[in-house]
Amino acid sequence: SSLTIGLIPADGIGREVIPAARRVIEAALPSSVRLNFVDLEAGFELFQKTGVALPEETVRTCLDGGVDGAMFGSVSSPSHKVEGYSSPIVALRKKLDLYANVRPVASPAAALGKKIDMVIVRENTECLYIKSEKIEKNPDGTRTAYATRKISETASRRIATMAFNIAQKRAGLSNVLSVTDGLFREVCLDVWKNGNNGDFKKTVRMDEQLVDSMVYRLFREPEKFDVCVAPNLYGDIISDGAAALVGSLGVVASANVGDKFCIGEPVHGSAPDIAGKGIANPIASIRSASMLLSHLGWSAEAKKIDAAVDRVLLENPAQLTPDLGGKGTTEQVTQAVIRHL
Ligand code: NAI
Ligand code: MG
Repeated sequence: SSLTIGLIPADGIGREVIPAARRVIEAALPSSVRLNFVDLEAGFELFQKTGVALPEETVRTCLDGGVDGAMFGSVSSPSHKVEGYSSPIVALRKKLDLYANVRPVASPAAALGKKIDMVIVRENTECLYIKSEKIEKNPDGTRTAYATRKISETASRRIATMAFNIAQKRAGLSNVLSVTDGLFREVCLDVWKNGNNGDFKKTVRMDEQLVDSMVYRLFREPEKFDVCVAPNLYGDIISDGAAALVGSLGVVASANVGDKFCIGEPVHGSAPDIAGKGIANPIASIRSASMLLSHLGWSAEAKKIDAAVDRVLLENPAQLTPDLGGKGTTEQVTQAVIRHL
């Protein structure tokens, strides 16, 4: 068999952690697999050089089957508005219709005193992130700003279906829903009751939670949660909060998933404060590579990678990178993971 993976390191530490993920993929797959990597370009640095942040060729290669899936590193987004620039990962999610952002948040029991193992399934295409804003002047001269929030039945249904499918493969389920999110809630309940020929209801326990109390419970009893489904904005807040529970952004993985394509992507950004020093934690990218492999049907190999990462996290704290309190380098952590494979 064969497997072709696109690599889009983009900016900053993306250039350090994506090569690490590549080496782990090479080590994890059986040598009988014909494994190819295709280097693809994107990013703010590319934009500064060429005026293009996301080349047509990168999009086409992903769209037309040139690669089976891809890994994305991280982009540097300028803090001020730069004429002609918009985020290439946001554009890729849109162009490839990667409507779900799936974020596992996990930590082996011994590392924190309790075992955290949950998956947050965040809607990736609408909510407040459609960026439809306006500002009006009031008769008294002050201004009022408005943002439109879009929640569609179609997008809610497909994200709920994906979340229940993930939950069905695991144990229980807790849902994050707000009463004000009437439609999202209604569709999620409908998918739970009637989806998959009634099978979701038989196999998955469902709880709803307002987003504020969800955040509270997440911090008090993170071990209770298994799968959370949420609209875009809540999902963003909950998943960044959950990342704090497991020690460092450097270990939190994600996958952008659609019906036709998947992009593994560490949750962190380009980390300009440590870029180029060789100390970026590669674990977020390695775990994202494992999610990509699992999505592409290589679940045994993905499990092997996750187990190797867990062993490295528990083995010797000093060999971990500085974000986890160690003295190790990107290279040493990558080698340790490969050794455990
Ligand atoms: P960041 O995630 O890049 O860094 C936050 C802090 O975490 C920094 O102290 C950094 O050194 C540390 N950190 C992050 N990843 C790490 C790793 N793998 N190993 C060790 N330490 C790690 O977020 P920040 O600083 O807010 O943003 C920097 C740039 O990245 C900005 O231009 C921002 O727009 C962009 N960004 C891009 C994202 C993406 O590509 N999806 C997501 C978040 C930010
Ligand atoms: Mg975020």
